[in-house]
Amino acid sequence: MTPAEMNTAAATDALMSVRGLSKSYGGLKAVNSVSLDIRRGEVVALVGDNGAGKSSFIKMLAGVMVPDEGSIRIEGHDVRLSGPTDARKHGIETLHQHLGLIDVFNVQENIFLGRELQTRRFGIFPTLDRASMRKQTLDLLERIGLKLPAIDAPVRSMSGGQRQSVAIARLLLEDVKLLIMDEPMAALGVDEGRKVLELINSLRAKGLAVLIISHNLEHVFTVADRIAVMKNGNLVDVVETAGVDHDQVVSMIVSGRPVNTTQH
Ligand SMILES: Nc1ncnc2c1ncn2[C@@H]1O[C@H](COP(=O)(O)OP(=O)(O)O)[C@@H](O)[C@H]1O
Ligand SMILES: [Mg+2]
Repeated sequence: MTPAEMNTAAATDALMSVRGLSKSYGGLKAVNSVSLDIRRGEVVALVGDNGAGKSSFIKMLAGVMVPDEGSIRIEGHDVRLSGPTDARKHGIETLHQHLGLIDVFNVQENIFLGRELQTRRFGIFPTLDRASMRKQTLDLLERIGLKLPAIDAPVRSMSGGQRQSVAIARLLLEDVKLLIMDEPMAALGVDEGRKVLELINSLRAKGLAVLIISHNLEHVFTVADRIAVMKNGNLVDVVETAGVDHDQVVSMIVSGRPVNTTQH
């Protein structure tokens, strides 16, 4: 057994178990039989060079793309994710690089976008229930441990990191088990990136699983419990972050071969 196989075989308590997932574009095998487990309360980083197949892989988990082969199990049940709505139904949310916020709307308007709460004025006229949406927004921010300076200001006036936090909060309004993020810190400055890392930490502490694609190994080492390395569509290895150093991860990314690690 390769270390990656041992790693997946050992995880019986996985929230999500992916086995043999493959995807080809024409003649190009972008993802080649990748297996990975993600547990509750765990942050897994997915790393690899451009073209390694990272985005294609998570698109299948997000329901954006249907796999050619392989299976996805969530809490022990085989699922077919034929759209983002399916994924959402199973508690999987994806933060896309375009955040999907409306600039002139404030925090609660963005969070409730498309699912606004209504009430009836004088028991007759349907009207937006701003008070409930505001209260639920504050509860949500409290629940995920997110502090924002002003929730009534248009998100246009916020920093990149704050906007991203709003986009994340928006995904977490409903019950979410796995949050997938494709390069969330790429467009952010150092301090802003750190805030997003803090938010990820607080989500993990609340039992969420997070799968994060990042090119920034410093971030990966700060936030990830395990690191999955891909190259040319193949999963090179999945390692415990504590069992490897920076150079070993770079070596796996470049060579496409596992390194000897100190872990089991
Ligand atoms: N929609 C697509 N059509 C054809 N080829 C694609 C498409 N999306 C990705 N690819 C190719 O699949 C491979 C993997 O890409 P991708 O999953 O985006 O990798 P990564 O996110 O690791 O950079 C690359 O060779 C890329 O050019
Ligand atoms: Mg990508």
